[in-house]
Amino acid sequence: MEKTDVFSLDGEYIASTYARFGVNIVSGKGSILKGGDGKEYIDLGAGIATNVFGACDDVWIKAVTDQLTKIQHASNLYYTDPGPRLARLLCEKTGMKKVFFSNSGAEANECAIKTARKWAAEHLGAEYHTVVTLKNSFHGRTLATLAATGQDVFHRDFLPLTPGFAYAEPNDSADLERVMEENKCAALLIETVQGEGGVNVLTDSFVADAAALTKKHGALLMVDEVQTGNGRCGAMYSYMNYGIAPDVVSTAKGLGGGLPIGATMFGERTADVLTPGTHGSTFGGNPVCCAGAESVVSRLDDDLFAAVRKKSEMIFEKLSGKPGITGVHGRGLMIGADVTGDVKAVVKGCIERGALVLSAKNRVRLTPALNIPEETLSRGLDILIEAAAAAAEA
Ligand SMILES: Cc1ncc(COP(=O)(O)O)c(C=O)c1O
Repeated sequence: MEKTDVFSLDGEYIASTYARFGVNIVSGKGSILKGGDGKEYIDLGAGIATNVFGACDDVWIKAVTDQLTKIQHASNLYYTDPGPRLARLLCEKTGMKKVFFSNSGAEANECAIKTARKWAAEHLGAEYHTVVTLKNSFHGRTLATLAATGQDVFHRDFLPLTPGFAYAEPNDSADLERVMEENKCAALLIETVQGEGGVNVLTDSFVADAAALTKKHGALLMVDEVQTGNGRCGAMYSYMNYGIAPDVVSTAKGLGGGLPIGATMFGERTADVLTPGTHGSTFGGNPVCCAGAESVVSRLDDDLFAAVRKKSEMIFEKLSGKPGITGVHGRGLMIGADVTGDVKAVVKGCIERGALVLSAKNRVRLTPALNIPEETLSRGLDILIEAAAAAAEA
């Protein structure tokens, strides 16, 4: 019999890189998604921190479709309107000076790494090519960003790794100092909250030390805001919660509101490192993606960040001390919960009860849309509380 359902077709024709849950998302509005079986789900993942204004947000749809009716793609040989406007918005909101657009978080980090190497060769000497990152970090799945990722589990099948990376313990200033002293460093690259690593928040003192160490060694400070950025942690970018001034900021995920876009932002010292021919991308700066991103970024303001912080407090209050939940971590709407039951069983239990949550390492991870209504969030948390208690008893 011919297989036509999505589950069979996926199994037969899609490379098996994902261990998917058995839900086919066919439509959605805001933080409510609909499965192919007609069942509704409260969305506490937002496409892994991506649909910042939820599913099919009206303002975003208008921006994207308006651009679609004008021109969908023109190549970077010519100018198109949305990209430069988006870059100006990002620079105005961050104080950064220039932006390179790509298509994903990994590409945004590749660009950051290339920039660090070129800058260091020109300012420190060609032997200063090491990019220091943190253990337990995640920076992407291309070969260079895989090497930047400080987790052996991602490296194992893909050796030899791209050389020029060294890893320090997160929240351990002495270890970072040691690694920076032992290597000729071009840059330090950090996530201020390690997302895929299990939602681990870097401490204020470690980030301050990290900034001071890059200064001491004359290296660049680069922040990966792919997951933490675009309002997710209760500020435009999470580094702003720490009062540091990075030389390079990479972002993606939430920036596009659900369309693929990456951005690498350059500060004073790095604004002019990349020159014609040194970097590029066919789809980078695509006008449709940039128009969607412009509609997202223009709405990221202090009122929204305050609402994000309020909903964050609500999550901490609601989950803390509940049966089967032993800890709550994170910042803004990027939350990790320790559960006593099997984390996969908790995620599955949530899906069965009508809520989509994520996991990261052994924590349940929540990254809902920034505009999720409090009542919807509350119902979703009730489901998580029930699923965590059930998994703890199993
Ligand atoms: C911090 C961080 N950097 C980079 C990436 C890679 O982004 P992408 O999957 O868009 O390449 C991710 C993805 O989860 C991420 O969380």
